[in-house]
Amino acid sequence: MLHSHSFSPLVIRGRSLLPIVQGGMGVGVSAHRLAGSVAREGALGTIASIDLRHHHPDLVERCRQSPERATLDEANLTALAREIHAAKTLSEGRGMIAVNVMKAVSAQADYVRVACESGADAIVMGAGLPLDLPEMTQGHDIALIPILSDSRGVSLVLKKWMKKGRLPDAVVIEHPAHAGGHLGVSNIADMNDPRFDFMRILEELDAVFVSLGLDRRDVPLILAGGINSHEAVRRLLDAGANGVQLGTPFAVTEEGDAHPNFKRVLAEAAPEDIVEFVSVTGLPARAVKTPWLTRYLRHEARIREKVGALRHACPTALECLSVCGWRDGVEKFGHFCIDTRLAAALRGDVANGLFFRGKEALPFGTAIRSVHDLIELLLTGAMRPAVAGRWAFSLG
Ligand SMILES: Cc1cc2nc3c(=O)[nH]c(=O)nc-3n(C[C@H](O)[C@H](O)[C@H](O)COP(=O)(O)O)c2cc1C
Repeated sequence: MLHSHSFSPLVIRGRSLLPIVQGGMGVGVSAHRLAGSVAREGALGTIASIDLRHHHPDLVERCRQSPERATLDEANLTALAREIHAAKTLSEGRGMIAVNVMKAVSAQADYVRVACESGADAIVMGAGLPLDLPEMTQGHDIALIPILSDSRGVSLVLKKWMKKGRLPDAVVIEHPAHAGGHLGVSNIADMNDPRFDFMRILEELDAVFVSLGLDRRDVPLILAGGINSHEAVRRLLDAGANGVQLGTPFAVTEEGDAHPNFKRVLAEAAPEDIVEFVSVTGLPARAVKTPWLTRYLRHEARIREKVGALRHACPTALECLSVCGWRDGVEKFGHFCIDTRLAAALRGDVANGLFFRGKEALPFGTAIRSVHDLIELLLTGAMRPAVAGRWAFSLG
């Protein structure tokens, strides 16, 4: 654990944490090992709930024998419960374990229920407005943390939740021009809009809090997207943020739950290898231009024109998204199976995977370092010499 740094703690639901949050990273990239290791350092570690069965050989085998939606759904809920328990054990009671649930996912209510029942400390919800999260978690003592991208969204959630007598326990504000994965903007062309500027949002939210009769300390604000140095952490915390969330830098740590090839693809990507495109969710996303994505983007216009408006059977039977461009034939959305592509990336299949990544250079360049080293660098600026790597990886 890190004891000497000069920042105020991030306080969530009465728990005092390091002001560092590891963002949820889907289809197995942030499972128990990453989230538990981050929590053990005294920070907030996040398990991404979507499709965690790939980390459990017995569940993978059960799904292979009975590839129906009910079996797959059940396997994922079992996997989520196991991952939460394993992360809590690994954390040794320190920090906090959150579960990230995307609003756009069909099984969102089940993932939220299992997170509550399995002892997660927080639910972090993005990819859609989490207006009904308070009702979904009623009766459970669990922190609720929406992910939004501008002050209008934060203001809307605050007003709706206040009518239900609940405040968010923190809010993550993610910048679409820098973050990895799905981006909180309807149009790629809008991602540099000044309304996403962190300093502007902090200023606008001061006014929103006053108008709602709230104290700024009532709802901690966590900024996310492209944060990659001690100087950036200092600048944002000095400007009034209560914490910072990082995704890509944690995905490539030794403890990151994905295959070593996944980490290499992310760590070694040059700026010109990182692209934005329209995902099957209809939201823009950011990823590394690996062989499959390069091919897909080359043919995107033709695919859209030829089969974009046609409905297709879900290739995995999981029906993971409530609305999917490929399955539902939504012409202007993306047209591929996101679950198959993300699972291939998790396994380290460089030729076929979809490798989500943020836009910025990484704190340790192309080096793979531990969660402890990353948190120490972010909070103190100290960069110790690397010790021999302790990589471990297994998939079912
Ligand atoms: C590989 C990868 C997968 C991600 N998956 C999710 C996800 O499932 N849910 C989510 O809310 N955010 C997801 N994100 C976003 C991260 O949680 C984080 O907010 C973002 O990456 C921050 O930007 P940074 O990568 O520049 O640090 C993902 C990001 C990456 C790089």
